[in-house]
Amino acid sequence: MNILVLHGPNLNMLGKRNKDQYGSFTLDDLYETISDQYQSIDFTYYQTNYEGELIDIIHQTIEEEDYDALIINPGALTHTSIALRDALEILNIPKVEVHLSDIENREPFRKINYIKDVVDRSFMGKKMESYFEAIEYLLSKLVV
Ligand code: DQA
Repeated sequence: MNILVLHGPNLNMLGKRNKDQYGSFTLDDLYETISDQYQSIDFTYYQTNYEGELIDIIHQTIEEEDYDALIINPGALTHTSIALRDALEILNIPKVEVHLSDIENREPFRKINYIKDVVDRSFMGKKMESYFEAIEYLLSKLVV
């Protein structure tokens, strides 16, 4: 099973960001923990600060059909990017959005979410645990 894990802007700065909201681990710590915990899954990790690059990767995933599922934490693009939403809408594999923090209970501008309607489920507010919940959900969808 291959799962693509995409991260958007500023998530490469985990460990230096607001620790109350995002935890004190780095993005590499997160990757390592996920891969250790789910050794039978083949994860491909990608982080970019560029909206267009994220969209290009999603297009490539659509064309090449090489992943079984997608986990995306779009960072602030969640609240701004109709273009990212449109790209995700085309992608026809199980797909979930994950947020470390609880974006529904923070600043009002984080309540705007262009992504939630085009993914199967949203997981948020539990820091690293949000990713585990997302993976468990995808496993329940993919393993029959
Ligand atoms: C985030 C929440 C976003 O509002 C924020 O811009 C991020 C991280 C999260 O994981 O909680 O960069 O997606």
